Amino acid sequence: MNEKVKDFLTIDDFDLDGKTVLFRADINSVVIDGQVQMKERIVENAKTIQKLLDKKAKVVILAHQGRAGQADFMHLEQHAQLLRNFMDLKYIDDIMGPSARAAIKGLDRGEVLLLDNVRMLAEETLSKTPEEHSQSLFVKSLAPLADIYINDAFSVAHRSHASVVGFPTVLDAGIGRLMERELIALEKAAYLIKSPCVYILGGVKPEEVFDIINVTLERKKVESILTTGALGTLFLYASGTIELGEEQKEDEHFMQNLEQAKRFLEKGKDIIKYPEDVAVAIDGKRREIPVAQLKPNQVAYDIGAKTGEEYSERIRNARTVIMKGPAGLYEDKAFAKGTHDIFEAISDSEAYSLLGGGHTSAAISDVGIDRKSMSNAHVSLAGGAFLRYFVDKHLPGIEVLKNRSFKKF
Ligand code: 3PG
Repeated sequence: MNEKVKDFLTIDDFDLDGKTVLFRADINSVVIDGQVQMKERIVENAKTIQKLLDKKAKVVILAHQGRAGQADFMHLEQHAQLLRNFMDLKYIDDIMGPSARAAIKGLDRGEVLLLDNVRMLAEETLSKTPEEHSQSLFVKSLAPLADIYINDAFSVAHRSHASVVGFPTVLDAGIGRLMERELIALEKAAYLIKSPCVYILGGVKPEEVFDIINVTLERKKVESILTTGALGTLFLYASGTIELGEEQKEDEHFMQNLEQAKRFLEKGKDIIKYPEDVAVAIDGKRREIPVAQLKPNQVAYDIGAKTGEEYSERIRNARTVIMKGPAGLYEDKAFAKGTHDIFEAISDSEAYSLLGGGHTSAAISDVGIDRKSMSNAHVSLAGGAFLRYFVDKHLPGIEVLKNRSFKKF
């Protein structure tokens, strides 16, 4: 790595030989029909873990999958199996009980152990300060067995959770390779934004990007916000291009979003762009229509060709591009064109591009774009944390790792 991230200790700053390292990874992955998918988060975390093993550390991985109560909330056995494609790894379905502690104590230099989903512990996700989390049973049970805490999970840095902020409060702590890369790239884009700057915002939940639209319009550092997906459709209603149907009028959540979108248009009508044509499903097939023909409550699954061209032109002429979320239902080949065209324009553009959001990195390969062609782009593996960073770079999991010196405790 040529650039060095300021204010943090990295794995190069520690003598790891024989040391027990608590390594916070984010291997939270897409689960389809109960099967955890092998995606970049697993591949990239494996690389940092290998570095730690090369330095003869005893590595204990702390990680989560899903959220309690949701379908993808599960034990980490399958993740262990996927990580075994890259290294020998032990797995134990315990987090801080006697078996987990015995397994940690039994590790040899150059060995790695994955503990079970830390979110199985209720205290992991309690809303608490780093100090308070450091007093949890979880932290008190495992911290005494470890020498160093390394966080490589930029994508959970916006959560003030025990495994993110509690351990670094009581242990020497630094950042992993993936976190280094994310911080360098975000710093570059967030503070060296060059004009023309283009945001491309899509995805299925418009409210997820309201904060970023707000801040972007306030800071006046953007030439265009190109909207796609459900956000694009929301602006079509907000601008009066599509009439509201009865169903929307009765949907309280939709109406709140609509009011917000109208306020954004009042502030940034020349900046916010929305589709002029879209693709809908007719008899299961893609059909492109001008937006004026979109009926109330009809779902647009992709942007249309004209919109794709207009957006691509802006992207090709930009010097900074920030993208969150695919342009449509890219998982279905019939509706992947808009997302493909936008990625292609990013590849062609000389702009520095930063791409993030839950499905964005997976979408690049799924729509058939070669990542190598995006030489000026950083693809963040983070979803929520990526957006939060643009709104306020003081994420709890980052702040707690800043300006550390050794042997503080
Ligand atoms: C993510 O997938 O964005 C991270 O793993 C964080 O997950 P969370 O939103 O459930 O905290």
